[in-house]
Amino acid sequence: MKTTPRVLSGIQPTGKLHLGNYLGALKNWVAMQDEFPHECYYCIVDLHAVTAPYKPEQFKQNVFDTALDFLAAGLNPEKSAIFIQSHVTEHVELMWLLNTLAPLGLLERMTQFKDKKKQRQAEAVNAGLFNYPVLMAADILIYKATAVPVGDDQLQHLELTRELARKFNHAFGETFPEPEARLTKGARIMSLTNPDNKMSKSDVEKSYVTLDEEPDRIKSKLKKAVTDTGAAGETGPGARNLLTILGVIHPASVPDFEKQAKQGTIRYSDLKTHLAEKLAEYLGPFRARRAELASKPKEVWDLLDTGKEKAAKIAQATLVEVKEKMGFV
Ligand code: TYM
Repeated sequence: MKTTPRVLSGIQPTGKLHLGNYLGALKNWVAMQDEFPHECYYCIVDLHAVTAPYKPEQFKQNVFDTALDFLAAGLNPEKSAIFIQSHVTEHVELMWLLNTLAPLGLLERMTQFKDKKKQRQAEAVNAGLFNYPVLMAADILIYKATAVPVGDDQLQHLELTRELARKFNHAFGETFPEPEARLTKGARIMSLTNPDNKMSKSDVEKSYVTLDEEPDRIKSKLKKAVTDTGAAGETGPGARNLLTILGVIHPASVPDFEKQAKQGTIRYSDLKTHLAEKLAEYLGPFRARRAELASKPKEVWDLLDTGKEKAAKIAQATLVEVKEKMGFV
């Protein structure tokens, strides 16, 4: 099957992005955009975001914040189509069609759905949450994407996407490539306050570091990070998480701390101070670019429109092909 190597990924506009979003996913988005010969589609998945309780009056700001984070992280609108998911309505139509191929049993087994179902009051467990992975599959398949840069918590959703591609191809003829996940090194960043859970925007503020966090706040958040939950003589998950982050942003200083950890002489306060300094340096250029972009909102909204035009062309063509193959009049 002849396909253009394409990349698609998305992030929910549920607030400012954090270190986990960047180190787990966004960093790879930027890298893949600069890799020849990919064509990249990156979207702000607002339709996914409304499966959780949210404030309508804050929604537009959240979308804008996410766009700023994308651009400040290095996404280049000249190279990648950057757009808002709900602006390309074909995603939703394809989702409906894919729903007819998605076995209930498979959706019920999705870990994220099961986790959210456990965490939420029964009335907040809506059908959108259940169908969330099918919309994600439609986001990917509508561009016939071959590679999807995500964090490892999304691998199960990717597997479902591959399954739906296979089912469609089998039933209606070869149409979709089976997309592959692209993980970053150190793909999962954990919460600072509860290192058994992943860093998450829906958690308390002190559990994550946003990409535009001020150096003082980085320092105070890291100071309070949990580091002592491991068995005696072992590096606990909290300290390991800090070393993972350091390993990505300043690998040269990791061996020293690892050696000290082995010898049992490591002082976690030193590790935290050092990581806070390196993080502030690492995120400094990001903060500056973000502040500059925030002062030009029209430019940002305009480029989301341009991204939409680019994306819609491909999405429309795929949907026509899909409906033809499915026998629609
Ligand atoms: P979201 O917004 O929850 O997460 C966006 C991306 O950030 C990654 N991520 C992390 N990586 C490492 N450590 C963490 N603590 C961490 N927290 C989040 C996620 O793996 C993800 O890559 N369902 C998707 C959104 C989506 C999507 C798509 C992705 C909708 N349609 C199509 C790819 C393709 C999600 O988890 O969003």
